[in-house]
Amino acid sequence: MSKQRVLTGITTTGTPHLGNYVGAIRPAIAASQEENNQSFYFLADYHALIKCHDPEMVHQSTREIAATWLALGLNTDNVVFYRQSDIHQIPELTWLLTCMTAKGLMNRAHAYKAAVDANRDDGEDSDFGITMGLYSYPVLMAADILMFNANKVPVGKDQIQHIEMARDIAQRFNHHYGEHFALPEAIVDEQVSVLQGLDGRKMSKSYGNTIPLFLPEKKLKKHINKIKTNLLEPGEPKDPDTSTVFQIWQAFATPEQTAEMRQAFAEGIAWGEAKKQLFELINGQIGEARERYNELLENPAEIEAELEKGAEKARAYSAPFLEELRAAVGIRKIG
Ligand code: TRP
Repeated sequence: MSKQRVLTGITTTGTPHLGNYVGAIRPAIAASQEENNQSFYFLADYHALIKCHDPEMVHQSTREIAATWLALGLNTDNVVFYRQSDIHQIPELTWLLTCMTAKGLMNRAHAYKAAVDANRDDGEDSDFGITMGLYSYPVLMAADILMFNANKVPVGKDQIQHIEMARDIAQRFNHHYGEHFALPEAIVDEQVSVLQGLDGRKMSKSYGNTIPLFLPEKKLKKHINKIKTNLLEPGEPKDPDTSTVFQIWQAFATPEQTAEMRQAFAEGIAWGEAKKQLFELINGQIGEARERYNELLENPAEIEAELEKGAEKARAYSAPFLEELRAAVGIRKIG
């Protein structure tokens, strides 16, 4: 059986937090170790420009996210790990696809629609603050995927629509110019937990409730201590299923450790003690990677070298494929 091509992108805004780790990074690194996958993981820095117009922040986030993946043991011999903006064929393909994308399809994209709705609610013009970048976002994402003929695209639920749009665009291109693209499929892992943040809502940068992954030890402890709990005293039984502390525990613990913590809750473990154990559990799992992460950030050339190696591998696919696509649409040398 030929290898399945798995591809996913990470938008380079913000600093990776425990929610990103549990929901995306950890499963991606695990999948990259599977023999029958051929994985492409990339830093979606062109996507970052849609949301963030602060150059230093885009750069910083790209560096931090690259260092995070490398520190956590991504095997870059086994995986193609690259920066989207190093692959010049991607924006070029974006244009070819843009010319095959119905405007009406883009009108239905939920990220765009949410921005329009927010404007309406605020009594603003419906186009207020909306760039063409946001509007055409799904075409860039389709180019990311189709450039490498990915079969499987692991994403969060919020991204399913974009993968469907990539399929639509690919089908239209194939129909018109011949079969060039594989049709990608979204892979949404229902098992993967969506981590709760400090306030009990989904851990998300937009709620300001995250626990950054590689905080220094003391700060990690402090953050964990800030997780919202109720006022039950030590000795009073606590409900694990409504507790953020327990929910995060579960995402890091073995089934045995989870059963033990469930028992401890029933027996009235003090919140302070549960948080102390949670800190130790997480710190034990990420401590080594954190050291490596800090080393990498002090040696950015090492990160850069990895990304350049990845870009070269990626271009070995994208450069000849784009030539084929250019020829297919009628762009080729004369004579
Ligand atoms: N838009 C995705 C997100 O915000 C990131 C992304 C960009 C992506 N290009 C992609 C994911 C291609 C999968 C495939 O999460």
